[in-house]
Amino acid sequence: MKKVTISTLLKMKQQSERISVITAYDASFAKLFDEQGIDVMLIGDSLGMVLMGEDSTLPVTVEQMAYHTKSVKKGAQRAFVIADMPFMSYATKEQAYANAATLMAAGAEMVKMEGGSWLCDSIAGLVERGVPVCGHLGLTPQSVHKLGGFKVQGREQSAADDMLAQAQELEQAGIQMLVLECIPTELGQRISAALSIPVIGIGAGPGTDGQVLVMHDMLGISANYMPKFSKNYLAETGDIRKAVSQYIDEVRSGSFPSEQHSFN
Ligand code: KIV
Ligand code: NA
Repeated sequence: MKKVTISTLLKMKQQSERISVITAYDASFAKLFDEQGIDVMLIGDSLGMVLMGEDSTLPVTVEQMAYHTKSVKKGAQRAFVIADMPFMSYATKEQAYANAATLMAAGAEMVKMEGGSWLCDSIAGLVERGVPVCGHLGLTPQSVHKLGGFKVQGREQSAADDMLAQAQELEQAGIQMLVLECIPTELGQRISAALSIPVIGIGAGPGTDGQVLVMHDMLGISANYMPKFSKNYLAETGDIRKAVSQYIDEVRSGSFPSEQHSFN
């Protein structure tokens, strides 16, 4: 059982081995996911919705993220651990430094921030200071009220070109991983091919370097509605361990996501 690091993930991209990612919020599930061989666990601010029952991720605080990061870290022996920076916790560079420090001290091995070019300064500063950063483009749920709902992004040619340009700027600034959420399959594939860092998709089609799902969605137990891009693996297998292991297998083989879980 070799610990997954950022170097492992970069090598997987280079060798076209798909990366499996799942959200995790506590030690028991983290241990179970780890034992099934998940590559990366994300302490997502989606916990505001799936754990707290909020209708968006906006109310989530840095303290809550740190609490769950600590718990997950205890169960994650092998997997690489990423924690979300919550809404407005990286509005300025100084806030980004202080709040990233809290999450890294809680056990995160990388922090994730939603947004494009405006983040480049903070990203470069964090990376220089030893904090690895994951970007997040496409549907960025912290901007739900600006976007007018949870909608597919990058459908128009100009929006697609702009997203690719922003992804490249983020890579230049120093991100070592990127999440793409709810974008057309073709754009997911295009951005993944253009970057040399691992690109992880959720509702971004089969052409990315890996996939991430919210654990409650892939077990079919979410308090919220089930997004089109997710798949209920517990219904298929009837067992949580088997559900997780099948998800990992399908990500590795490329059979998930299929057309029915993607946007065109
Ligand atoms: O918060 C979260 O769970 C996420 C993933 C959906 C990428 O950001
Ligand atoms: Na998130």
